[in-house]
Amino acid sequence: MSGPLERPDAAGRFGDYGGQYAPETLMPALKELTVAFEEAWGDASFVDEYRRWLTDFVGRPTPLQHTERLSAELGCEIWLKREDLAHTGAHKINNGVGQALLTARMGKPRLIAETGAGQHGVATATAAAAFGLECAVYMGTVDIERQHLNVVRMELLGCEVIPVETGAATLKDAVSAAMRDWVRTVHTTHYSIGSVVGPHPFPWMVREFQRVIGEETIRQFGETQPDHVVACVGGGSNAMGMFHPFAGAGVDLVGVEAAGEGLDGPHGAAIVGGSPGVLHGSMSMMLQDDDGQVLEAHSISAGLDYPGVGPEHAYFAQNGIARYVTATDADALDGVHLLSRTEGIIPALESAHAIAWIANNREELVGDTVVVCLSGRGDKDVDVLAKSMFPFEEGERSLPGRRSGRYGGSAGMGAKRRSDPYPSRP
Ligand SMILES: Cc1ncc(COP(=O)(O)O)c(C=O)c1O
Repeated sequence: MSGPLERPDAAGRFGDYGGQYAPETLMPALKELTVAFEEAWGDASFVDEYRRWLTDFVGRPTPLQHTERLSAELGCEIWLKREDLAHTGAHKINNGVGQALLTARMGKPRLIAETGAGQHGVATATAAAAFGLECAVYMGTVDIERQHLNVVRMELLGCEVIPVETGAATLKDAVSAAMRDWVRTVHTTHYSIGSVVGPHPFPWMVREFQRVIGEETIRQFGETQPDHVVACVGGGSNAMGMFHPFAGAGVDLVGVEAAGEGLDGPHGAAIVGGSPGVLHGSMSMMLQDDDGQVLEAHSISAGLDYPGVGPEHAYFAQNGIARYVTATDADALDGVHLLSRTEGIIPALESAHAIAWIANNREELVGDTVVVCLSGRGDKDVDVLAKSMFPFEEGERSLPGRRSGRYGGSAGMGAKRRSDPYPSRP
């Protein structure tokens, strides 16, 4: 068993995982990026500028909020690290600003990115606008449909959204398309990966840009520390940003992957339901068949709909530094309603997986202190949520407000109700 690593080894590996599995044409760019990031991160003036942007533009530090009603309902003390209150509505902006600043320092005029939920795309487009960089974002057509609000936001910010129709037309395919663009344009373009995935130095660099989440949380707690820290895991950037500063200090770190329709059906749980393999430039855990072909992932949340996971999470899992669990699509929907109803906060479907895991495992947590990384807000998910609350037949039109939801509201016109698994206490 090994402990957490301050940084990967010279080959970019976290133990068995990580590395650089990239085409020859990208190797010089990866080397250039590694040197550029190393120099920048060791340069106090760059770090000061990055921190200034986090304060003035992003609005950090984000609050660490104690929940009254949710804690009472679930029987443990739950604190929310409010990344949903960061500029643009999710943690992705911490990394977006960091990589845009680095792009400007490297003298490259163009930024590209992939996006699933649209939050990394919006963060990149936002930072590109603020730094005067040209910007293009690759997005699967399935995600364009389910995260339409963020498409409009990116276009408002002057960014070109490039639809990707290959494969399942979701996050994996958007990453592949962005990598193909980067191979062609590497001299003028920086590829800002949105999570702790990809070839070295991305998993390390994105973790460093996100570690502010965990560092702030430790400071905000003061002398006492939580018993458990819980975060959803797609590629794993909000979780790693939260976990790494806590790692090795005796706090139970819980990463919640997307179980989709259940682990026997389509899902996105690369650690719990996957095996070691190479995806998008690094060795990690991933969903694959017996021939090593990548399997399509599934999650109701676009940001967790990915068949891989960052290599440092694979290392954390292998060495017991964090544990990895799952929540299904239905759990996540319940999690959205639970937090909305008890605390007046509509979380992103991604973050709702973490809330749902706590609700489902409350017996194990009785009386404990639990911090949840509330990675983003749920505005982007209202279409998906509306469909789950107000299912009606194809061609039938109705105002959602006139229908009965699963969680109350006036009697509707036959909308199906699921029972509320977390009914309010009287
Ligand atoms: C709000 C939110 N949370 C979580 C994620 C998952 O990404 P990661 O695992 O890198 O934090 C996303 C991805 O788009 C997201 O938008």
